[in-house]
Amino acid sequence: MPAHQPTETPPPPPPPAHQMWGGRFAFGPSEALDALNRSLPVDHRLWPQDVAASKAWVQALGRVGVLSPAEETHMLEGLDRVAERLADGAAAGAPDEDVHTLVERLLYEEIGAVAGKLHTGRSRNDQVATDLRLWTLEALDQLDADLAALGRALVERAREGVDVLLPGYTHGQHAQPVRWAFVLLAHAWPLGRDRQRLADARRRVAELPLGSGALAGSGFPVDRVLLKEALGFRSVSANALDATGDRDFVAEVLFTMALVGTHLSRLGAELVLYASAEFGFVQLSDAFSTGSSLMPQKRNPDVFELARAKAGRLLGDLVALLTTLKGIPAGYQKDLQEDKALLFDAFDTLAVVLPAATGAVQTLTLNAARMAAALDASLRATDLADLLVEAGVPFHESHGLVGKLVREAERAGVPLDKVPAAVAAGIHPQLGAAVAQLGTWEDSVESRATAGGASRKSVEDQLEELRKAFAPGA
Ligand code: ARG
Repeated sequence: MPAHQPTETPPPPPPPAHQMWGGRFAFGPSEALDALNRSLPVDHRLWPQDVAASKAWVQALGRVGVLSPAEETHMLEGLDRVAERLADGAAAGAPDEDVHTLVERLLYEEIGAVAGKLHTGRSRNDQVATDLRLWTLEALDQLDADLAALGRALVERAREGVDVLLPGYTHGQHAQPVRWAFVLLAHAWPLGRDRQRLADARRRVAELPLGSGALAGSGFPVDRVLLKEALGFRSVSANALDATGDRDFVAEVLFTMALVGTHLSRLGAELVLYASAEFGFVQLSDAFSTGSSLMPQKRNPDVFELARAKAGRLLGDLVALLTTLKGIPAGYQKDLQEDKALLFDAFDTLAVVLPAATGAVQTLTLNAARMAAALDASLRATDLADLLVEAGVPFHESHGLVGKLVREAERAGVPLDKVPAAVAAGIHPQLGAAVAQLGTWEDSVESRATAGGASRKSVEDQLEELRKAFAPGA
């Protein structure tokens, strides 16, 4: 009979692994349940946090007299030895149910029966929430640093793009001329907002659940404020049932990461396009290009294609978490164990995408001549309409008049500024003069001088603001 079928006579119990529960059962879990239930393969990464939170808990228990001073010292030293063993790889291949069980078993191995006092007044429910918050706080630092590095790379590359003009696009169509710096900065600003979102979420990540017990608080009067300070949290959670079941912090951080992924995807989509032969605006360095196994000529922008694709994966992590959360009551439910695989996946994904995208941006070559060559007179249509407005024509009318000129240019197969003056004057007496007044591409860009526009002053102001925003330590 397969191992998972209920039997009249229980199978012989498996060799006794250390377990944190089981007194009420006649025999242990089936292999099939164990395979589903075990989280160690995912949550072993939490061991540094589990040890740190356990040490703080030992001190809290010492303060309320659950542990004698000698026991407290013994346990703290034991936990240090456990940490050393884990740093040496003791988690690899361990049979335990989860990281909490693993740490406790190793503590037993180090200090014997007194290890059994560690879990007094604590539950894995407040423990895992505490560990995961601690882990997230650290992971946020790395993510923030990686985002800032990409932000700096964009700002650095934007610096050399102030005088480089190219067509600006909306709907994939020539719209108005802009500066290359302006385009790069349009991808840097969202990253600044992402960092603000992470900093804001961070305040809510830094709420201490430890001392919540399983759901209703701890049976021992531990000082949660001291625990909070010992572990570097900002505040103490207000409701134990909420605190043990609350994964809003995971959702918020996953949302922000999904949005980071979306921003990287948009940057990637734009650069893949600009790296194509038809545009030829940029070329990726050899160090950030990939080849084809069949076509020798290829210089593929895999880095930005993958940056684009990972947005889907990050969104998937968010959707999976929210879907998990929506169906469960308050408090801890085993569903919540799924949170870690999703959160780790998202951080791991960005930890490889961001440095690669940063390197690719830092090393790509601009082709300013290709950008200039792509500027065509249709990009001046708005300028012409604006000039007619200055001559007193209402904008609605001038829009229509320039539209007629565009039609003439298309019909004659000439650029917009090469329509014969007599034809232009036939559309409106001022139109010929407006065409003659057009000036340079630079004049065109400078004419949109509102704050935030593509003019030199606006771009230089943005460069300065973003330089400060992405400076190390900012
Ligand atoms: N491995 C569990 C998790 O990740 C730890 C908490 C288990 N709590 C429990 N009541 N079984 O969520």
